[in-house]
Amino acid sequence: MIPVADRIGGFTYAIRNIVVEAKRVEASGRKVRYLNIGDPIPFGFQTPPHMIEAVIRALRDGHNGYAPSVGIAPAREAVAAECTQRGMPISPDRVVITSGTSEGIELALTAMAQSGDDVLVPTPTYPLYTAVLAKIGARAVFYRTDPQNGWQPDVDHIRSLLTPATRALVVIDPNNPTGATYPADTRKALLEMADTHNIPLLADEVYADLAFDGPVPAFAAQNLSAPVITFSSLSKAYLAPGWRSGWMAVGGDGRLDEVFAAIKKLADGRLCSTGPMEHAIVAALNGDRSHQAAFRDALRERAILSHARLNAIDGITSVMPSAAFYAMPRVTLPPGVTDADYVLALLRATGVLCVYGSGFGTDPADGFFRVVFLASPAELSQIYDLIVEFTRDFLARDGR
Ligand SMILES: Cc1ncc(COP(=O)(O)O)c(C=O)c1O
Repeated sequence: MIPVADRIGGFTYAIRNIVVEAKRVEASGRKVRYLNIGDPIPFGFQTPPHMIEAVIRALRDGHNGYAPSVGIAPAREAVAAECTQRGMPISPDRVVITSGTSEGIELALTAMAQSGDDVLVPTPTYPLYTAVLAKIGARAVFYRTDPQNGWQPDVDHIRSLLTPATRALVVIDPNNPTGATYPADTRKALLEMADTHNIPLLADEVYADLAFDGPVPAFAAQNLSAPVITFSSLSKAYLAPGWRSGWMAVGGDGRLDEVFAAIKKLADGRLCSTGPMEHAIVAALNGDRSHQAAFRDALRERAILSHARLNAIDGITSVMPSAAFYAMPRVTLPPGVTDADYVLALLRATGVLCVYGSGFGTDPADGFFRVVFLASPAELSQIYDLIVEFTRDFLARDGR
């Protein structure tokens, strides 16, 4: 057998890994409802036509060669204008167009952290962070976000984790998997920490337009000298996740210049992001965004339904999300039973596929699991009927 690199052992991505089991359940003849991945397209939400037109036009106009490694100028300009309008003034030359938020995150972490370094990551977290850190040999150090406090980050806990080995602080706001948005004073405290301790703050803002009350300001807006790198993409708020088209912008007062040079060096090595899709960034950011208001309303309706139905189940509590399409309920499990036991049994018994909280870094015994609530309200109601019945039986089993 040809050996595999050790680093692969630490590289897990539960959101996709769990699909293997779902396919087995499907092969046995049961319909599976895929609530594991945050992709609005299979649930009937549609990419805005003017973005599709922009890609088709780019293909027809012959934009099929390599783009510059930092991205085409009009896309960088559109991103800079977007950041500036949201309160993070930035020039186009501080922007890199990437293959989704994911590539931006990987470029930034690779440029900053090396073997043995620490990166502060929320728990629960979006699992790409821990996966990339495993790949580059750096250590994810988890800071608490608190379900008793609307899943807000524990700022004092973060402060207590800072050491000379800390290379970056990851903040996901609005958050996946919790659906939380962070208030201005929390943001300000985190920015101040980054500023005074000289720790780059990686602001994952991929859901910024999907807060139910409307777009949230740029994370960096309250402290423009703090070393902040912001990330976003067309995947969520522009309904084009398969296009792998996103961006990053490097802010602050110049402290990140060398990091930015390193990011551009790494970007040269992968040549460019997908060229025709870069034209869609221009169309998306400069064009009609009316789809977003309708999308936010649809998400709010589903969040309210999910919150009511989940909290009505004996043994389950769930915090009301304020953005995106995720809820992170908690089921009170008997001793010795894990979140994965519950989620896999739910899948096998009902075909409903969620992701166990430990896939996002929570303790398996804590019983968290993530629900993607993009399905129609009618389908969600059926799904919650299945979860109600299953949970009652699961918790009653063996005299639990
Ligand atoms: C918090 C967060 N960051 C990044 C990503 C990846 O997004 P992209 O498709 O832009 O790479 C996701 C996707 O679910 C996400 O939830």
